[in-house]
Amino acid sequence: MVSILVLNGPNLNLLGTRQPGIYGATTLPQIEESCRETARTLGISVAFAQSNHEGTLIDAIHAARGVHDGIVFNAGAYTHSSIALMDAVSSVGLPMIELHLSNVHAREPFRHVSYLSGVALGVICGFGPAGYGLALQALAGHLRDAG
Ligand code: DQA
Repeated sequence: MVSILVLNGPNLNLLGTRQPGIYGATTLPQIEESCRETARTLGISVAFAQSNHEGTLIDAIHAARGVHDGIVFNAGAYTHSSIALMDAVSSVGLPMIELHLSNVHAREPFRHVSYLSGVALGVICGFGPAGYGLALQALAGHLRDAG
């Protein structure tokens, strides 16, 4: 069975209370529950990890190799700063979808830069929590096509 890791970076543990005008009222556990439902419908398996630490995220990406078939990754602010996370994704060779709840392109200029987009299969942003389900669907479809 196809297995996808949903990986969340810094401050995403605070979803639900963090700037709800931008990120909404849905908590990370609620997003994870809805991912589980989507995964059931798609007939795939899903695992979750969240960390506020760059190195721990790198370790999670390394550990995904041989265990998961792809990664849905909301790297939070590290998206805009981390060459190390970009290298980690390139190094494991797993298809990764870059995800953002908010439309980063409609926000401050520093959020328009992403070190991850260049190593991503695709990017989903601006659809709030629904983006996670869209990303799972897109990645599961890609993995099925890739056989
Ligand atoms: C985010 C967008 C980033 O710019 C920000 O630093 C985040 C969340 C999003 O999901 O919209 O922490 O990745």
